[in-house]
Amino acid sequence: MTHKWACLLGQPLVHSLSPTLHNAAFAALGIDAHYEARPTAPADLASAVAALRASDCFGANVTAPHKRAVIDHLDDVSGKAVALGAVNTIVNEGGRLVGSNTDAAGLERWMREAQIDPAGQPVLVLGAGGAARAAVWALADLGASSVVVLNRTVEHAEDLVTSLRQRFPDVYLLWGKLDEATEPPRAPWRVVVNATSLGHEGSAPAVHPGCYSRDSVAIELAYNPPETLFMAAAKQAGARAENGTGMLLHQAALAFECWTGQAPPMAVYEAAAKQRVTP
Ligand SMILES: NC(=O)c1ccc[n+]([C@@H]2O[C@H](COP(=O)([O-])OP(=O)(O)OC[C@H]3O[C@@H](n4cnc5c(N)ncnc54)[C@H](OP(=O)(O)O)[C@@H]3O)[C@@H](O)[C@H]2O)c1
Repeated sequence: MTHKWACLLGQPLVHSLSPTLHNAAFAALGIDAHYEARPTAPADLASAVAALRASDCFGANVTAPHKRAVIDHLDDVSGKAVALGAVNTIVNEGGRLVGSNTDAAGLERWMREAQIDPAGQPVLVLGAGGAARAAVWALADLGASSVVVLNRTVEHAEDLVTSLRQRFPDVYLLWGKLDEATEPPRAPWRVVVNATSLGHEGSAPAVHPGCYSRDSVAIELAYNPPETLFMAAAKQAGARAENGTGMLLHQAALAFECWTGQAPPMAVYEAAAKQRVTP
C-alpha cells in the first residue's frame, strides 16, 4: 500500500492544531499516512493546489487567507461551500479536486452532542466573518426561529444576512451594529455566539447581562485560551459558556472522514487537542 498524505494550506500556520489531530488519528487507526502544514503565500496557491492532484494525496484543509480564493483552482465545489463563500476541505477524487466546507456541519454536530438546541428560539451572532457565516448556517439549519447578526462593520453583517436569507426562508434573519449588544434586549437569547476574532486576542465584545438567562448558552468560537473574557462575562450573568474546541474537532473529523472514509476516534482528537491548548 502506498503511503498517503494530506496537508493544510494557509499562512501563517504555526498555531494550527490540524497536524496534531490528523496525525494522531492516522496513527490510532493504523492508516499509513501523514499530515503536514504547508505555509502558502497567495502567489503560490495555484502550484500548492496543483500538487494535491498526486495519486498518493488524500486532499487538504484550507485556512486563512485562502478559503475563498482557492475556489477558482478546484474542479468542483459543493453548493454549501459556494453559499458560505469558503472552502476548508479539498478531496482528491482520482485527480479531480473537490472543495467543501465542514465548519457549519462541524458546529452543528458538536451542538447536538453538547445538547444545545436552538430550535424555535431566538439567537444572536456577534461577528460577520467566515466563522460567523458558518455559525448562522448551523443555527438556522438547527431550526432557530430568528438569528440576529451584529458586527463592527455593519455592511458585512448585511451582506452575510442577505446572502443566506434565500437558503433559510423560514428563519427571521436580521443584522445590526455590534454596539447594539450592549443595550438591554427585550428578552434573553437562547444562544449567543462570539464569532468575532476578539476572543483569541484576549479581548471580548461587550454584551449586556440581560442577553442571558440560566437557559442561555454562550459559545465562543475561539478555543485558545480555553476560557475567554466573553465566556467569563456570560457565566457571571448566569449562562452556560462553551469554547470553540468542539466545533474545531468536529469540522476536522468531517474532513478526515471525507479523505479516508473512516471516522477518527474523537477521544484521540480530544487528547491531542488538550496537549496543545494552553490554559
Ligand atoms: N472553533 C473553530 O473551529 C473555528 C473555526 C473558524 C474560526 N474560529 C474562530 O472564530 C473567530 C473568527 O474567525 P473568522 O475566520 O470568522 O475571522 P474573520 O473572517 O477575519 O472575521 C473576523 C470578525 O471579527 C470582527 N472583528 C475583528 N476585530 C474586531 C474588533 N477589534 N472589534 C470588533 N470586531 C472585530 C470582524 O469585524 P469586521 O467585519 O468589522 O472586520 C469580523 O466580523 C476567531 O476567533 C477564530 O479563531 C473558530
